Amino acid sequence: MTGVEPLPHRQGADPLGGFWDHDAHIGPVVVGQDEIRRRVAELGRQITADYADKPPLLVGVLKGAFIFMADLARAIKLPVEIDLMAIASYGSDTTASGGVRSMKDVDTDLVGRDVLVVEDIIDSGVTLSYLRRYMWAHRPASLEVCALLVKSGLQRRKIDLRYIGFTIPPDFVIGYGLDVDQRYRNLPDICIYRPDGSTGD
Ligand code: IMP
Ligand code: MG
Repeated sequence: MTGVEPLPHRQGADPLGGFWDHDAHIGPVVVGQDEIRRRVAELGRQITADYADKPPLLVGVLKGAFIFMADLARAIKLPVEIDLMAIASYGSDTTASGGVRSMKDVDTDLVGRDVLVVEDIIDSGVTLSYLRRYMWAHRPASLEVCALLVKSGLQRRKIDLRYIGFTIPPDFVIGYGLDVDQRYRNLPDICIYRPDGSTGD
């Protein structure tokens, strides 16, 4: 790829390197990797302070939260425990879903635990309300949610989140764990996805 000019819409942005610089589906950066790193460190400090006397059980929601979970867990200076669950939502690749179901349960007994759910992104809020109901049914002592991203203005119900990384406009985004058809999860920045690969805005 060396010697090839980056795509016009990416000029001025920090080069992502390799294949990424020539993929027309990758739009402008919404949250860059440096900003993510700073914010994750802040969230880690806040969670460390809030849970000082009751180290939480972190429950990551697969697959989208896997990178955020890994970074956040290392930013929390407490003896946390880690578990993972997987849920699937029905719908097309880039539109909000109507239904949600559990694909993989947690392995840990949640009764009496201080559970902190780690989520990638809240769009319609349907997944979040499913998660809340699902987790409360396991009778934890407390339940809070840490979402890396919240899309502004799309939630039909009130969402009550203890920890939010960034509030972003309602575009479909990729990177830092977020995918389209299982791709782009390893993109280090969070970028707008361009379905048609157009270079214009
Ligand atoms: P909700 O149920 O509509 O809030 O959607 C939440 C789930 O949809 C997230 O956990 C993601 O898996 C997926 N999702 C929503 N918006 C995006 C996006 O912009 N990029 C990638 N995945 C998304
Ligand atoms: Mg997804």
